[in-house]
Amino acid sequence: MAQALRNLAINVLKNNNVEAAIGKTVVRANSSWWGNVEMGPPDVILGISEAYKRDTDPKKVNLGVGAYRDDEGKPFILPSVRKAEEIIHKKNLNHEYAPIGGEALYTDAVAKLAFGEDSPIFKDKSNCTVQTLSGTGALRLGLEFISKHYAKNQEIWLSTPTWGNHPQICNMLKLAHKKYRYFDPTTNSFDLKGAIEDIHKIPEGSIILLHACAHNPTGVDPKPEEWKQLSQVIKERKLFPFFDMAYQGFATGNVDNDAFAVRLFVKEGHQVTLSQSFAKNMGLYGERAGALTFMCGDEATAAKVMSQVKIMIRTMYSNPPLYGARLVTEILTQPDLKQQWLADVKTMADRIITMRKHLRAGIEGAGNKQSWRHITDQIGMFCYTGLKPDQVERLTKDFHIYLTKDGRISVAGISSKNVNYVAEAMHKVTA
Ligand code: LMR
Repeated sequence: MAQALRNLAINVLKNNNVEAAIGKTVVRANSSWWGNVEMGPPDVILGISEAYKRDTDPKKVNLGVGAYRDDEGKPFILPSVRKAEEIIHKKNLNHEYAPIGGEALYTDAVAKLAFGEDSPIFKDKSNCTVQTLSGTGALRLGLEFISKHYAKNQEIWLSTPTWGNHPQICNMLKLAHKKYRYFDPTTNSFDLKGAIEDIHKIPEGSIILLHACAHNPTGVDPKPEEWKQLSQVIKERKLFPFFDMAYQGFATGNVDNDAFAVRLFVKEGHQVTLSQSFAKNMGLYGERAGALTFMCGDEATAAKVMSQVKIMIRTMYSNPPLYGARLVTEILTQPDLKQQWLADVKTMADRIITMRKHLRAGIEGAGNKQSWRHITDQIGMFCYTGLKPDQVERLTKDFHIYLTKDGRISVAGISSKNVNYVAEAMHKVTA
């Protein structure tokens, strides 16, 4: 082996263009180490923003990424966040490492926001909650933990459709993913019957991924009675519910109402896992403040789970970023600031509702004969328009309006300034 390596080195020095083989490993001396890497596709959502940025047309509109904009079309810094920034600035804090799982003040506050202050899980200390790199980080960490520590060869079941990053994360982890029916395109609403039928057939012990509120991409949530039915069948099938809650507050404008499903499942005895994000409801997109909670049944198990989660975090990114978590903590633990934040969330949710009304009125007002009722029926940040891929393509090509291929639009990208333009364009590509 030593001789082989020596010969290889000599060859490399002598001839820059050599390919030498040691055993099965082929070493290329001249071309890149990465010559075998294939070009990957652009991200289905964030790739749209990249294309939007390249477009120089002044009329361009980005309805691709789910990021809230104010009525001027500008990123919105919540007044409560501004205030929290000032408070933090005055504290003159240092920049030491955060604990591996995040600061306890943060993890307590965020878990309480999701599960409710008086949730039994806090009385018996049976939750393991860590700060994560926003919602995606929570999903990745949670699913990786499941892949390693939960029963082997599990399947995860995703709604049809679901957020584009869900299957991608599963693929990365080699976690088999399957689909249950969720959205009925003929009625543009939740397909309760289809969902129940499919969930009934899911093998026991499988993981089921549920969007806690403001379903992405459809904007269609089960009603409270429907959640009860889902809870029942999920319990009967002994499934493992993993909630993704990236939009708490965006569905109804009220964070407690939007936590209904999670709290119901806890009340009904499910041991849920939950990912949270503060990207949307605090506008902290780039700060990567999120959380992952495992309900563990008892305190001793929670401690064991925590010990293993910490090892996983330590080997991935060591410990989480502080700034976003400090803002969230300030907002959730100062009563005045929390009130301000709740009002800010409502402001965002209300503006989106107003834009839904204007958009629908604009398309109908242009004389379009299709039904556009779903624009105002759906909730949260997104509208699943029903536009077909060729219509989406025309919107982008002819009107410089960017949206994902599945016809989802981020209603948060619509403003008083562009709503008529968008409505007119949607009318033209569907008339
Ligand atoms: C979206 O669905 O547009 C957002 O959740 C942003 C993202 O990261 O995909």
